[in-house]
Amino acid sequence: MKTIKITRVCAVAVILLCLVNTKTHAQMEETKVDINQKVESLLSQMTIEEKVGQMNLYNGFWDVTGPAPEEGNAALKYNHLKKGWVGAMLTVRGAEEVRNVQRIAVEESRLGIPLLIGFDVIHGYKTLSPIPLAESASWDLQAIEKSARVAATEASASGINWTFAPMVDISRDARWGRVMEGAGEDPYLGSLIAKARVNGFQGDDLSAHNTIAACAKHFAAYGFAEAGRDYNVADIGNGTLYNTVLPPFKAASEAGVKTFMNSFNTLNGVPVTGSSFLQRDILKRDWNFDGFVVSDWASINEMIPWGHAKDKRQAAQIAANAGSDMDMEGYVYIQELAQLVKDGVVKESILDDAVRRILKVKFELGLFEDPYRYCDDDREKEWTYHESYREAVLDMAKKSIVLLKNDNNLLPLKKNGQTIALIGDLADDKSSPLGSWRIASDDDTAVSVLEGMSSYKGNTLNFSRGPEVFEGTSTFLQEVKINTTDTSGFDEAIATAKAADVVVMVLGEHGFQSGEGRSRTNLDLPGLQQELLEEVYKVNPNVVLVLNNGRPLAIEWASEHIPVIVEAWHLGTESGNAIANVLYGDYNPSGKLPMSFPRNVGQAPIYYNNYPTGRPTDKDGNVFWSHYTDVEKTPLYPFGHGLSYTTFEYSNLKVTNTYKENQEVKVSFTLKNTGSLKGKEVAQLYIRDLVGSVIRPLKELKGFELIELEAGTSKTVEFVLTKKELGFYTNQGEFVVESGDFKVFVGGNSNAELEQGFTLE
Ligand code: NOJ
Repeated sequence: MKTIKITRVCAVAVILLCLVNTKTHAQMEETKVDINQKVESLLSQMTIEEKVGQMNLYNGFWDVTGPAPEEGNAALKYNHLKKGWVGAMLTVRGAEEVRNVQRIAVEESRLGIPLLIGFDVIHGYKTLSPIPLAESASWDLQAIEKSARVAATEASASGINWTFAPMVDISRDARWGRVMEGAGEDPYLGSLIAKARVNGFQGDDLSAHNTIAACAKHFAAYGFAEAGRDYNVADIGNGTLYNTVLPPFKAASEAGVKTFMNSFNTLNGVPVTGSSFLQRDILKRDWNFDGFVVSDWASINEMIPWGHAKDKRQAAQIAANAGSDMDMEGYVYIQELAQLVKDGVVKESILDDAVRRILKVKFELGLFEDPYRYCDDDREKEWTYHESYREAVLDMAKKSIVLLKNDNNLLPLKKNGQTIALIGDLADDKSSPLGSWRIASDDDTAVSVLEGMSSYKGNTLNFSRGPEVFEGTSTFLQEVKINTTDTSGFDEAIATAKAADVVVMVLGEHGFQSGEGRSRTNLDLPGLQQELLEEVYKVNPNVVLVLNNGRPLAIEWASEHIPVIVEAWHLGTESGNAIANVLYGDYNPSGKLPMSFPRNVGQAPIYYNNYPTGRPTDKDGNVFWSHYTDVEKTPLYPFGHGLSYTTFEYSNLKVTNTYKENQEVKVSFTLKNTGSLKGKEVAQLYIRDLVGSVIRPLKELKGFELIELEAGTSKTVEFVLTKKELGFYTNQGEFVVESGDFKVFVGGNSNAELEQGFTLE
């Protein structure tokens, strides 16, 4: 077994080095040919059962991330490992544990094929970055890539060589708990983030010991679970499929992601796990994807309760033929597939195709060269919770914070001579900020807001918990219990607020209130928190509301009354420090919302790139137009919104249309920092195609740049729109650019009002 040691001193250098290409093109081509030959040679030695074995993914022995199957037990799994009937395992972790299972596969099975070891490294392994939705609010692609790099470095030192991330599902409905795992509502932003995450996990050399295979999930349309209820049907039109759902998956594929995961939902009546249209036609044929597709947890079996397969045999047949290459903890392939091949119902070539894809990834990871390359105890010791990660996740956390509102410039807080009341159960919580999907992390390892703020010594900080928000300890498997009756703590909180100059209230959702299986029909502040907020506001209106949440919340009352609102999501290990840095102005916030915030839950799904309707305004002053009678149809905070401690102005928008001659439209404008502080702004460019053979959205993001400017300075910002940005997919999936009138908008959020028109001839 090889031992690769890396000293502490060069930690950061190593992390950064991995972002740099290390192999020449010729070397990579040579490796490809070599790998193909090795795959063919191995495949030719395999029995049908061994081929099916490679298509079989078992969960480990301790943690579960889905309903426990009836079939599985440890003895059976060990027995199958010995027979070479297991291609991969998930949720086995730690160098020693991984080595134990890898050793059986490699040393006791006939062909000794090493295992892939999968894990949900969603926003870190033990050291946690902000939840992916929060990271997306940074719009900082380099930081997001680095965050994935850090996660891969830590996870790979613990035996993991494959992550079930990134989740690239576009989601518009905050009721769906898994919005926390994705990049929000926009396909353009989502595609760039998908690419950044894939690059971060996989690096440029998959065979390096600190890079891991990534997995674009959940293919496809899982984010469109009807009514935001997890595992529900997705019923969407082709326009939405091609223009909204698929682009981030395509971007991941183009970035070289090694695997895809399908999902639990149906798409227009067909469980996607059994969809040949998605997996064979679009992914493998049209996009030329040469990695493999893993099912989601028992999603092949779930075609039975869905009413698409009558039994396991039929489920296995449909899924294999449709291009699902690997069965996650479903026991269907291992039980049915070999016989299906022998009966001539599934062609052996289907197995060969799947196994080739799987083996290729194993070769690329370097597992055949050294199956234990991810299982080095010294490396694990050194790289778990490595101190260099803290700086990276703190940086990411600060960049993820969105300043929603800052009336009277109440923020940043003065650093001296103030009495600050810090209120809220969540302010003292060291677990909740770690967020959902953090199976490997240790509880109570986040810096709380109380700890973060306590390091600023110039003020008097009085903490009052207020009423308990969450009852008992919450876990990944259980629903969070909310206190709705016990008001003890109110009086003390109100008295503390009354005696303060400024009140900082940390309110919101528990980290486990979002994530898989955590759909909500109510987007309000849980439990007694709204009441507490209103009571505190009555005695001291100088309230800074710090939100902790994994999804957009409906905070209309707060938005009307509370002068300052800071969206701080679930920010991971360095949460409290990041929040304190922003509150005290040591970091000038620049985050922008990746999802629209609704006024109330009845607006869900709500998203900026919606369509005009035939009755967009109330021009006649009567009710016959597209609106709600009880609330504005606009969101409370739009996609792309986020303030800074300085201000920015957009002017001088120019459009140069040379599309006919050289296929491009140039856009330029001036961005000026008009405030008194240095700050960063995400300058956003949207277009509208005014008339289309298929109607086009009111606005579509087609460019953005994160720009830092000193106070009083300005910059000319330029974008180039090409066919790629100006076209769209028809309902038949054909990409077209249609002639006609367009508009360009630029600004600091999706309400961008500075506009110019141009015409494509
Ligand atoms: C089910 C989830 O949908 C998927 O995202 C995850 O990767 C698997 N379980 C494995 O934990």
